[in-house]
Amino acid sequence: MMPGHRPLPMNQTSQHARTATNAHLFDRARGILPGGVSSPVRAFRAVGGTPRFVDRASGSRFTDAEGEVYLDFVQSWGPLILGHAHPEIVDTVTAAAQRGLTYGAPHLGEVELAERIRDAYPGADRVRFTSSGTEATMSAIRLARGFTGRDRLLKFDGCYHGHSDGLLVAAGSGAITLGEPSSAGVPADVAKWTSVLPLDDDTALETFFAAHGAETAAVILEPMPANNGLLLQRCDWLRKLSGLAKQHGTLVIWDEVISGFRVGMGGATDLYGITPDLVTFGKIVGGGLPCGAFAGRAEIFEQLAPLGPVYQAGTLSGNPLAMAAGAKTLEILVRDDVHARLNILGRRLEQGVRAHIDAHPDWRVAIVRVGSVFWMAFGDRTPPRRADAIAADAAQLYGRFFNACLDRKVYLAPSAYEVGFLSLAHTDDEIDRAVEVFAEALAATFAPASGSRES
Ligand SMILES: Cc1ncc(COP(=O)(O)O)c(C=O)c1O
Repeated sequence: MMPGHRPLPMNQTSQHARTATNAHLFDRARGILPGGVSSPVRAFRAVGGTPRFVDRASGSRFTDAEGEVYLDFVQSWGPLILGHAHPEIVDTVTAAAQRGLTYGAPHLGEVELAERIRDAYPGADRVRFTSSGTEATMSAIRLARGFTGRDRLLKFDGCYHGHSDGLLVAAGSGAITLGEPSSAGVPADVAKWTSVLPLDDDTALETFFAAHGAETAAVILEPMPANNGLLLQRCDWLRKLSGLAKQHGTLVIWDEVISGFRVGMGGATDLYGITPDLVTFGKIVGGGLPCGAFAGRAEIFEQLAPLGPVYQAGTLSGNPLAMAAGAKTLEILVRDDVHARLNILGRRLEQGVRAHIDAHPDWRVAIVRVGSVFWMAFGDRTPPRRADAIAADAAQLYGRFFNACLDRKVYLAPSAYEVGFLSLAHTDDEIDRAVEVFAEALAATFAPASGSRES
């Protein structure tokens, strides 16, 4: 536990814990929430078993409805780079709430957070806030279309950019988890404007741009694809993509909803030394509150309402609580040199797990990591770079691994295709414990007779 974190009371049961089990709550939830959840992967369908209903969370851990404490490597899917309920963030949000929950009018908080983003990110001359990452990518694409006067969009197989219609084509995250490369309910007339290419393929890029470059408004990608496993790309390939786009007047949108402020203050943009035309944010930028943003060159933002004809709006956009939480988070990231600490923690986890993998040549698994983001790539010992290179039995193997970890009170994402996140609140001892648990879980996953879950 980091200094300053309020310890999670281990033996204090809540109202829920006295009255309900996870199974009871899940039954009740299924009676009113489709699948019992507000977002699909949370339903545990890909790994089996009962979702844990969180009662409260602090630092690196959460306590479920039954009073069990879990070491959490999901961290709300990435926003909580400082850990759950970081005291300074809670105090900041509390103070902001006392000045009003939402204004629907301009306020200093949004200017301050936008300035922090601009100062950290190359090319982020202008920033518009939204309430989610989905809105940020959807709006960035509309802006790119308005700016270029073109309709076609290029995306990559396995990259996830939220759930707007035109982006649910060969998407990752929940869409891949459910075995649906695209969603029902997306009109063919919308989907036809989205072209999809495999990652890591130079020839596919050249062929596409030769045929469609002139009609393509934008190419959107996760520069560090982290929604279909962690499919790390070659810098050369990223550079080639930017070069071809520029040559054809196509805007490059980097979706940094996960990587933004996660792999460093300048995100993947700094990591790879490539500046996109537009960049999208979510997760960390709101410090754990609903928030997204898109940013980029001033010239492009001249087209955005109220300056220009591209419409985009939001009742809760620039919400004062989210702005305050985001700005305080970014301040702490710099003040406490958080990324350096996270790199040390990440290396500790990676090296620990890799030592066990190296000692067991029969384990078909690799660990992939960038900073505080990691992925257990099942099915092969070489990490894949593209969605179709992931082993066919990866999800099945991961299901065993996940449940063996869960039995040992280590909580990972309930999907083979989602990454894990470390936070500032994780301690060296907790990382060592996780390494131990992963090793036991891998042994159980690859045990010769294993076909069923451990007890
Ligand atoms: C890269 C990326 N883009 C966009 C989104 C959508 O963000 P949100 O879930 O806030 O709508 C996500 C969500 O995980 C994401 O990982």
